[in-house]
Amino acid sequence: MTTIAPINDANDFVSRSAIAIQVQDLHFRWQTGSTVLDGCCLEVPKGEFWMLLGTNGSGKSTLLKLLAGLLQPESGSIKPLPKLGFVFQNPDHQLVMPSVGADVAFGLAAEQLTAIQVKQRVNDALTAVNLQPLIQRPIYALSGGQKQRVAIAGTIARQCEVVLFDEPTALLDLDSQRELVAQVQRLVKERGLTALWVTHRLDELDYCDGAFLLESGKVIDQGDPQRLRDRLMNSE
Ligand SMILES: Nc1ncnc2c1ncn2[C@@H]1O[C@H](COP(=O)(O)OP(=O)(O)O)[C@@H](O)[C@H]1O
Ligand SMILES: [Mg+2]
Repeated sequence: MTTIAPINDANDFVSRSAIAIQVQDLHFRWQTGSTVLDGCCLEVPKGEFWMLLGTNGSGKSTLLKLLAGLLQPESGSIKPLPKLGFVFQNPDHQLVMPSVGADVAFGLAAEQLTAIQVKQRVNDALTAVNLQPLIQRPIYALSGGQKQRVAIAGTIARQCEVVLFDEPTALLDLDSQRELVAQVQRLVKERGLTALWVTHRLDELDYCDGAFLLESGKVIDQGDPQRLRDRLMNSE
């Protein structure tokens, strides 16, 4: 049985009564045979912003794909997730329509909404990420950070309660990186979203409520982001 540190101390009971993302004893291996997840456990409290750290190839993206139902685990359990959003490293793999407004509206195509409701949802979502003035702008004329904010607006318009981010700042310059992580922190607090954010940039830990460290297919440490940052900086 894997031993992991508690999420926190005094609030432990409160947190556990409202867990948004819960993974228990998850095992996964690719058909090629290599084991990626080997008894992975984690819990993210509802309404919090948690980060997932680990070296390249440690299984972070695989874990997000399992959470999103894009892959099936060999064994273990994942609590069924409410409406889920996914923001990828490269927004060019995610944005499909020619303009900002059209792209956010496209994500609502499967829902039975009137044209007025779609317009309201798109405006509200773009306002939340400070992009409403760019509603007509072609996607090609956006910066990398603005494209990521369009992707986030898509998840807000769909009213996703949980959003998974797979290294969303990896392709951004320093200013856009800071702006994006600060904006997600604000959205989580203001809208009660739950976010799990994969990163290898340790300065982003300033913005989250807690973090997990993945190694050899397991969460080997978790909790206070600053403690984890110190641990990783000392191990470099
Ligand atoms: N489609 C795939 N087929 C086979 N092996 C894969 C595939 N995708 C990733 N892997 C392997 O799974 C392991 C974990 O990869 P990944 O989850 O992408 O790690 P991380 O996101 O932490 O860098 C790596 O060894 C990687 O080579
Ligand atoms: Mg990855």
